[in-house]
Amino acid sequence: MSVLQGARIVVGVAGGIAAYKAADLVSKLVQAGALVDVILTAHAREFVTPLTFGALSQRPVWADLWEPTGMAAARHIELAAAAQALLVAPATANTIARLAHGLADDMLAAVALATTAPLLIAPAMEHHMLQHPATQANLALLAARGAHIIPPETGRLASGEIGTGRLPETATLLGALRQVVGRGGDLAGRRVVVTAGGTQEALDPVRYIGNRSSGRQGFALAEAARDRGAQVTLIAGATALPTPYGVTRIDALTAAAMRAAVLAACVEADALVMSAAVADFTPIAVAEHKIKKREVASSDGADLVLRLQRTPDILADLDAVRAQYPGLIRVGFAAETREVAAAGRDKLARKGLDLVVANDVSQPDSGFGSATNTVTLFHKDGRTEALPSLPKTAVAAHIWDAVVALLAQR
Ligand SMILES: Cc1cc2nc3c(=O)[nH]c(=O)nc-3n(C[C@H](O)[C@H](O)[C@H](O)COP(=O)(O)O)c2cc1C
Repeated sequence: MSVLQGARIVVGVAGGIAAYKAADLVSKLVQAGALVDVILTAHAREFVTPLTFGALSQRPVWADLWEPTGMAAARHIELAAAAQALLVAPATANTIARLAHGLADDMLAAVALATTAPLLIAPAMEHHMLQHPATQANLALLAARGAHIIPPETGRLASGEIGTGRLPETATLLGALRQVVGRGGDLAGRRVVVTAGGTQEALDPVRYIGNRSSGRQGFALAEAARDRGAQVTLIAGATALPTPYGVTRIDALTAAAMRAAVLAACVEADALVMSAAVADFTPIAVAEHKIKKREVASSDGADLVLRLQRTPDILADLDAVRAQYPGLIRVGFAAETREVAAAGRDKLARKGLDLVVANDVSQPDSGFGSATNTVTLFHKDGRTEALPSLPKTAVAAHIWDAVVALLAQR
């Protein structure tokens, strides 16, 4: 279940050109199961209408503290008390200044003062406005008070210039909210390491031996752990996926780089989930220049013979780290195309793991690239859990449930 299911989120929209993007944010929040109360500043209403936000949130939209019914005046305290998070997106330079100085001159500013819920600010403005010492000082003041400043992105601004000041994508804003709402979860205070994606072993400067891993299961694991309060290090091989918000990503494209990154990241970690597809073999020598057809020396000039050597066994090498930090929970993946159960059990025993997640990657709805996965969990206490075909996010939740149980036994 999404951490946003049933969460009370207040979205404050200020009068910036990116106000239209807040409609998509509210729509996605509602789709994730959140109860969303939207507050528009008076200037936001110059850009977007309450009608749009009311239709998307299916709740009243709060715009005017001075509404003659007096409803909004009382409502701001109610909203402030109920909120699990207040996200201001887009946050204008003006609203950032008002919040930094504790003004309460409209509904949004009044709720921001009255709530004890975490405050998230997504600044969006022309780059000189953002870089102005006044704006920077206001943001620093808010951050020092514990507000989460979601860094604006660099790219084309509404002015036509390229610079920093763009409102981040909806997925990033959602990631920030999920992290904040989930921070008291059952992995709070835990440090976890997740590996994801496939490795690429170079043959020459332009070619490599790779595999079909997309990284989706590993990225889903990283996001799920973040949403349960963990501090997450994601060691990524080859993947096209964007870095989840709030996750520390380390790129490690080869088996050797992944080994080094895992060993370093696991120092003082609580759990390691190795979902990356790491090459078992790597070329003995990498050609300095692109291998050319006509230069390949073989009996008839038609064949190229590659000599490969075993890559290091990362889990075996981790024993030295475990000697220092014996509590590290280790979860391995077994991506197989036949005799999945036997392979899973064998890996559990052979590598002395706490849990093995085995899947048959030859199935269309399971494994590489697909949105779903059909896995069997092999626990070290002998239990076997065969899960049905599930979204990778749901598989991730099962794996973290098992890790939480193991952590509790430590
Ligand atoms: C067309 C237009 C676009 C604007 N875009 C931004 C913007 O992206 N960011 C910003 O900080 N201010 C922007 N402003 C200025 C704000 O609208 C102005 O500072 C206003 O007072 C903000 O009020 P509020 O913060 O209470 O919503 C823009 C103004 C206009 C007319």
